[in-house]
Amino acid sequence: MKFFIDSADLKAIQDVKAMGMCDGVTTNPSLMAKAGRTDTDALLKEICRLVQGPVSGEVTALDADGMVAEGRRLAKLDDHLVVKVPTTLAGLKAIAALAGDGIAVNATLVFSVNQALLVAKAGAAYVSPFVGRLDDVGEDGMQLVSDVLEVYDNYDLETEVIVASVRHPMHVVDAALLGAHIATIPPEVIPKLVAHPLTDKGLAGFMADWAKLQGRGA
Ligand code: E4P
Repeated sequence: MKFFIDSADLKAIQDVKAMGMCDGVTTNPSLMAKAGRTDTDALLKEICRLVQGPVSGEVTALDADGMVAEGRRLAKLDDHLVVKVPTTLAGLKAIAALAGDGIAVNATLVFSVNQALLVAKAGAAYVSPFVGRLDDVGEDGMQLVSDVLEVYDNYDLETEVIVASVRHPMHVVDAALLGAHIATIPPEVIPKLVAHPLTDKGLAGFMADWAKLQGRGA
């Protein structure tokens, strides 16, 4: 499973990249606002240069023509730029037009199987079901991922599934068990994936025994 980093924070992305865990990046207007940079095109270019993999930058127009114009402009920033488009009626038109231009599109804010089916038919390269936000309202986010994977498999649809709105390590485990292509993970969740109390305890034991051995040598 590929790991994308769900962030527009260059330093955080750099940290995860240094662990070999950054296959791509997803941003959205909220993450851009959190990063606090108003020169968003320049920031996206810097992220693309750093990551050398797919980097999603989201359109902010709400009408199809506006989304297409913005998407075409964003796509010119870097070869790695993936245009993120919200899953609405206008979004479907924009996805079809951008995909027709050969531009990779990530269909975002997906909360149902039908939405995922439609964006794949429109030509999206990626679909982003938001598991955490579904869990928040008492639905089963991972069931949606499972259903989308099954439907795509039924029809050999090539759109890659990005498990999005990841909140905790079990989301990553479940995404991998389901065979999702990608999980986009907030940088603060990455350390939680490697942490285990028995690893810490075991290491402390090894270090204590090693110190005793050194003491014996002295
Ligand atoms: C996906 O690409 C989105 O940026 C993201 O996963 C949204 O997650 P949130 O629900 O934590 O905002």
